[in-house]
Amino acid sequence: MSEKIIQIHDVGKTYHTGKIDFEALRNINLEIEKGDYVAILGPSGSGKSTLMHIIGCLATPTVGSYFLAGKEVSKFTSNDLAKARNLYIGFVFQKFNLMPQMTVLDNVSLPLLYRGIKTEERRSKAKEVLEQLGLASHLMHRSNELSGGQQQRVAVARALVTNPEVILADEPTGNLDSKSGEGVINLFNQLHEGGKTVILVTHDTAVAKNANRIIQIQDGTIRV
Ligand SMILES: Nc1ncnc2c1ncn2[C@@H]1O[C@H](COP(=O)(O)OP(=O)(O)OP(=O)(O)O)[C@@H](O)[C@H]1O
Ligand SMILES: [Mg+2]
Repeated sequence: MSEKIIQIHDVGKTYHTGKIDFEALRNINLEIEKGDYVAILGPSGSGKSTLMHIIGCLATPTVGSYFLAGKEVSKFTSNDLAKARNLYIGFVFQKFNLMPQMTVLDNVSLPLLYRGIKTEERRSKAKEVLEQLGLASHLMHRSNELSGGQQQRVAVARALVTNPEVILADEPTGNLDSKSGEGVINLFNQLHEGGKTVILVTHDTAVAKNANRIIQIQDGTIRV
């Protein structure tokens, strides 16, 4: 039976900067089933990252409701948001967002620290995921000593280490050469094949075609 992991109803997001209000998203309706593979495509400034931040529990909508795994996230406190994020979401950012001075192993262990898992177990779990992603020989490198493609694989490992239901990737290939980009997209394809829910933001229609479903966003609304 299909299960709706993400349910977004009439969501809007307005940013207040000084005296100016900017409506970055309006009337967003979106339902995503467990195991789905969705690409979000749209021009710069159309609201893709804003939507991903809402889905990823990094931000709350100004209006409307958002249910993640049946729980109403739109009413969460910032503490609840952090918990939901840690429990359900693996987020991969365009600019990797790794801790540059920390080792690869420590970067990937970090989400498990927030879960209160002991050092030994954190390290062995992080090592296992990094080995699966072909980074076994770089565990003790600092993340700023790696290539872009390697850093993005570390970021994917960090997103996967908690075994989240939903993987969100905001332009994960935006800063990569085409070969590294292909490698990273292959990782997402494999995650989907393994049963994960994958949501990918991209400018690139060729990348979007890997998904089962493409959602086009323009001026803060979904094009139908
Ligand atoms: N924190 C913020 N404060 C004010 N305005 C914001 C903020 N974040 C985003 N915006 C505005 O909201 C709109 C949508 O931004 P968003 O980052 O979601 O676009 P995007 O589709 O991800 O673009 P890109 O492809 O360039 O990453 C933009 O006009 C942007 O200037
Ligand atoms: Mg963006």
